[in-house]
Amino acid sequence: MRFTSLFATAFCVLFVNAASLTKRAVSDQVQLCRNDIDAISVEIKNVTDALSVYTSADGISVAVEIHVREQLLEVALKKAGVDCCTAIGKVTDEEADAMLTTVTPVIPQATSALSLIVAKKPEMVATMFAMGIVREDIKNLNSQTVTLYTCIRDIGTEQHPTYIPTINDFISQLDNSFATSSAAYSNRTITP
Ligand SMILES: *[C@@H]1O[C@H](CO)[C@@H](O)[C@H](O)[C@H]1NC(C)=O
Ligand SMILES: *[C@@H]1O[C@H](CO)[C@@H](O)[C@H](O)[C@H]1NC(C)=O
Repeated sequence: MRFTSLFATAFCVLFVNAASLTKRAVSDQVQLCRNDIDAISVEIKNVTDALSVYTSADGISVAVEIHVREQLLEVALKKAGVDCCTAIGKVTDEEADAMLTTVTPVIPQATSALSLIVAKKPEMVATMFAMGIVREDIKNLNSQTVTLYTCIRDIGTEQHPTYIPTINDFISQLDNSFATSSAAYSNRTITP
């Protein structure tokens, strides 16, 4: 009897410790930011699924449907920009690791999406009114991405060995991709 209750007490203590450890490992605020980044990934896929099959034969109405999907991506980026910026200065090493796990796969996805936009330039040039829409979309996505990645970087602790340099590397990849796509949509020249 005594043994049983001792065991029960020990079990409870263990259980409570495990629960508070899990909670401490990744705070609700950081988890919200991670969920928002996962949502961005879903929206990038939604845009690229439609964009990858687009040809000028589809016409401006289909191009506008892709733009509507892009607007959903902007909504997701804005939400992350708010939620991730609220998490500033609160993270532990475990949280920084968790952030890297979430962010890392989205970077090649984002740079591929920007490359796809560049590859679709000839189709957009051949679609009346499309160039201006895409140019504006790139500009908005760029500024929302800058807001978000600045906050994601500021979340990192200097104590974490690789967080800041890794995020800085992601930032230059994104900046380069945005610069290339902005340049492409600044003119109507088709480079072979
Ligand atoms: C993808 O885009 C379509 C068309 O705009 C929209 O109906 C759908 O809700 C989008 N999916 C997500 C996950 O946003
Ligand atoms: C015009 O677009 C091409 C890509 O199609 C790009 O390489 C070039 O840099 C652009 N020109 C300018 C002046 O931005």
